[in-house]
Amino acid sequence: MSKNFKKNAVIFFGSPRENGFTAKLTEKFMMRTNEFYNFVKFSAYKEKIKPCIACGFCNSITTCIYKDFEKIDCLVKKSDTIIIASPIYNMSLPSPLKSVIDRMQPYFASQIFHKENLFNCKEAILILTLGSKNKSASKLVRQQLKPVLNSLNAKILGQIVWENTDRVKEIDDFTQKNLEKIIKLITNKN
Ligand SMILES: Cc1cc2nc3c(=O)[nH]c(=O)nc-3n(C[C@H](O)[C@H](O)[C@H](O)COP(=O)(O)O)c2cc1C
Repeated sequence: MSKNFKKNAVIFFGSPRENGFTAKLTEKFMMRTNEFYNFVKFSAYKEKIKPCIACGFCNSITTCIYKDFEKIDCLVKKSDTIIIASPIYNMSLPSPLKSVIDRMQPYFASQIFHKENLFNCKEAILILTLGSKNKSASKLVRQQLKPVLNSLNAKILGQIVWENTDRVKEIDDFTQKNLEKIIKLITNKN
């Protein structure tokens, strides 16, 4: 792919720490792939998106009763690639990022109630960090993200996991291999 045809990638960033492990891994990914993507970072802790209140407004019209949905909607509509970059908290996503995910309910409602597919095929990439070596944690998060990615018509291209951050303070071989694998996929695809 020529540099003139970069994909638009939105990074939904879930860490409160701007220089933490997730930020480091995300930066590294961005540096290695910036010839393929125009990145926009949406930091869930900074944006303070309201949680979904299940009011049912989006069941009849594909938007949200809260205005702050517009920011999310605009980024999602412009993107070819959805990147979820987050630490794992209690086998799940930190609550501000979970709120962003839950606020994508209008897309789900659109599929279910209006039988409308809003999006052309997107790709999704997961960048996850966690303190332990618990393999089931990242599997669980991937599982949790499936419904929303499905309503965005986004297929997971791959994931980069930096586990054991309680002990491993620099990107190790395991994480580096993960990173190289996905870069190869991106390079071959483009
Ligand atoms: C509230 C909280 C919950 C956490 N829950 C888990 C967990 O369930 N499993 C795990 O392995 N690590 C857990 N961790 C550790 C973080 O996932 C880990 O430190 C992560 O790399 C932090 O990323 P950051 O530096 O980008 O913030 C938790 C940390 C916090 C603060």
